[in-house]
Amino acid sequence: MLLPLLLLPWAWGALAASPPVPPGSLTLRLLKTNVFHNASSSNMEGMALLGDLETHFMDCSTCRIRFLQPWAQQGLTPRQWQDLETMFHGYLSKFIFLMNKVVKDEGEHYPFVTQFSLGCELHLNGTSRQFYDAAMNGEDFISFNVDLGTWVAQRGDKLALSIRDLLNQDKSTSATTQFLLRTTCVSELQSFVQYGKESLARQERPVAVVFARAPPPAGTPAPLLLVCRVTGFYPRPIRVAWLQDGEEVGPGWRLNSSGILPNADLTYQLRSSLAVGPGDGHSYACRVEHSSLGGQSLLIPWGATGTSDQENPEPEGAAPA
Ligand SMILES: *[C@@H]1O[C@H](CO)[C@@H](O)[C@H](O)[C@H]1NC(C)=O
Ligand SMILES: *[C@@H]1O[C@H](CO)[C@@H](O)[C@H](O)[C@H]1NC(C)=O
Ligand SMILES: *[C@@H]1O[C@H](CO)[C@@H](O)[C@H](O)[C@H]1NC(C)=O
Repeated sequence: MLLPLLLLPWAWGALAASPPVPPGSLTLRLLKTNVFHNASSSNMEGMALLGDLETHFMDCSTCRIRFLQPWAQQGLTPRQWQDLETMFHGYLSKFIFLMNKVVKDEGEHYPFVTQFSLGCELHLNGTSRQFYDAAMNGEDFISFNVDLGTWVAQRGDKLALSIRDLLNQDKSTSATTQFLLRTTCVSELQSFVQYGKESLARQERPVAVVFARAPPPAGTPAPLLLVCRVTGFYPRPIRVAWLQDGEEVGPGWRLNSSGILPNADLTYQLRSSLAVGPGDGHSYACRVEHSSLGGQSLLIPWGATGTSDQENPEPEGAAPA
């Protein structure tokens, strides 16, 4: 019953031959969410992603595929895309029927949400990894073991076990799923990377600013928290370090980081903070290294002209060091 969903990557297989893959690991992923309100009402949304780029979207009030990148329609004719939409529609009806039946048999309650994530990941060394995981109400539910070609329950309750058994009865679909994930997904990923190579190669320069958070009242020994706010960069990998008198501050309690967080415009942001003794006589600077900077780094000194010691100042660009 899950076969039609997996035919989406297969359909992409009608595309051009697979050329070399650019550096770094790449992923092709399909995400599908179903909300079951009650036995007679449910919604479905699906999305395809190449790395962190959303490429296709489907809302099954109509089951029409929306292309989220200018190149996302390449490779199939309008007629072939339409056939896919029809196939999804048919698959969806079967999936909803089956879930409603199992939920009724097992005495589960509405509303509930199912989420599927499937796809493949290609590594720099040429190896690949495949995944096909399902969640129920936000918790791991069942997964497909690609090596064995069987479904494994991630929970011990009757609902998970009975869906697992139901899926495992269909050996031919399992074998096809295994083939599609291992072979087709990887070759589609390679083709897709060619269509989307300009989007994947997009470079957005980080803008960084350094400020002190909540300066302590004069005369208190409390440490000062310097914050380096870096935003607007793409792609995601970045390196942000603090320098004390020109030397990089090593890992330890003085450092803290928000981790890399997404912005709404498919750029990323990060905050890194450093605790310093007020008036300790050292000089401090934040150093940012990113692929968009062409081998240079941004160096933003603390307390220099142009930076501010208030909380939440307006962001200011910094010149490459
Ligand atoms: C099922 O849920 C939908 C959406 O929440 C609602 O509009 C409808 O009235 C419900 N139907 C029944 C039979 O409960
Ligand atoms: C290939 O790279 C992946 C990801 O970096 C790694 O997990 C895997 O062990 C590597 N395999 C080989 C054979 O080097
Ligand atoms: C690190 O920062 C996070 C928020 O960015 C905060 O919740 C946490 O308390 C901080 N940890 C330390 C040790 O300051």
